[in-house]
Amino acid sequence: MTEQTADLTAPDAAPAVADNSRKVFIKTYGCQMNVYDSTRMSDALARDGYVQTEEMDEADLVLLNTCHIREKAAEKVYSELGRLRDMKKARNGDGREFMIGVTGCVAQAEGAEILRRAPAVDVVIGPQTYHRLPEALQRARGGDRVVDTDYALEDKFEHLPKTDKALIRARGVTAFLTVQEGCDKFCTFCVVPYTRGSEVSRPVSQIIDEAMRLVDGGVREVTLLGQNVNAWRADGPDGREWTLGDLLYRLADIPGLERLRYTTSHPRDMDDRLIAAHADLRKLMPYLHLPIQSGSDRILKAMNRRHTADDYLRLIERIRAARPDIAMSGDFITGFPGETDADFEATMEVVKAVHYAAAFSFKYSSRPGTPGADLPDHVPEKVKAERLERLQALLIEQQKAFNESCVGREVSLLLEKPGRYGGQLIGRSPWLQSVIVDAKDERIGDIIPVRITGTGPNSLYADILRGV
Ligand code: 5AD
Ligand code: SF4
Repeated sequence: MTEQTADLTAPDAAPAVADNSRKVFIKTYGCQMNVYDSTRMSDALARDGYVQTEEMDEADLVLLNTCHIREKAAEKVYSELGRLRDMKKARNGDGREFMIGVTGCVAQAEGAEILRRAPAVDVVIGPQTYHRLPEALQRARGGDRVVDTDYALEDKFEHLPKTDKALIRARGVTAFLTVQEGCDKFCTFCVVPYTRGSEVSRPVSQIIDEAMRLVDGGVREVTLLGQNVNAWRADGPDGREWTLGDLLYRLADIPGLERLRYTTSHPRDMDDRLIAAHADLRKLMPYLHLPIQSGSDRILKAMNRRHTADDYLRLIERIRAARPDIAMSGDFITGFPGETDADFEATMEVVKAVHYAAAFSFKYSSRPGTPGADLPDHVPEKVKAERLERLQALLIEQQKAFNESCVGREVSLLLEKPGRYGGQLIGRSPWLQSVIVDAKDERIGDIIPVRITGTGPNSLYADILRGV
């Protein structure tokens, strides 16, 4: 199982890089969907002769792939654009092209406003029009400043070039695969339904084709992505409408695709077929990110989550009955408008009942244009922060307890990338933990049994079991 790394070093597998090729630097903010989109933009630009660089200084094109979920995210983009403006000025006259593009959710939400606030920006491209990025750059070369934030009628995935095999290999043994975009849930705090539009599911054949290409390029673990991934549905080849569970059963049949994950799910869309997949599919990893946001029924109603805390807890019971070793992760918001101390305590109670292995938690950030922004009784920043601190202390304690419960256990590890020190590799456990082992680089891509020996601040340590 070491052929991937062997190929990586083979001269004919390396992408052809001419020294005079144009270079693009892509800075990605926010969620995994943006990470995936950045790779696909890079693919589209590769066709135009661009090579991706990790050094902003040597770039001819800088793309900021932005996130709009919380206030600070957009502000960070504007301050980064300030720095880029200075860079553009400094580079002016060196004879080389230097273009700046803003993509992602801030691009979608702000559109032409970005051109007004940041005169150095050449193109602004929303998440649904990445296939038109090369064309927009061409127009920018002609002197236009381009804004393209339509919800394009054509399917961008149909139009984006398929990723080159050498690029897949260079990107590693785990990969994201977007199966669904957009959201129809309209939680009252969230901008996603406005920035990413309504739910669109990619067709089965497109997803299978992409998964097979990834596997052919050495990928062993695929994470299916969607803002509301478990709302994915499409016509199945058997004439029935498939839901995410059906898709997972089909993907699990692909030889060489060893591990599957999906994120992010909404509790309302965890149907029986999906829960059955957790019971039946060895390849489906025992880890589920299932946000609840608040443990108070009153706040859940105001958030338009359309479930109660009890619905959520009973759902987790059913999932755990199907897959007893499943680790849970979640998202939480403190200080949604109207949240009282009692509401917050209800959130703490849910956390205590679930025992999370990992979690993300945020202070509520009022987003203009969302219904939450217009609600009365906004919570003072200080209170939001105090609650967040208490919540995070509990979540960190649970994460530590989970990690410590792994010590002494035998687990399967996907060897993913070199560690900080020579002779070490970092692997991924079934529960998405980073695990450090002593192993040679050529074993990257192997899935091996290890015994967890200890825990560190950000990762676990393990010994490879003898004879492997
Ligand atoms: N304020 C704070 N957190 C938010 N999230 C989404 N919108 C907001 C907001 N306005 C959080 C939710 C969501 C995660 C991706 O970001 O917890 O699940
Ligand atoms: Fe936002 Fe709610 Fe949709 Fe998640 S389900 S993307 S939180 S609106």
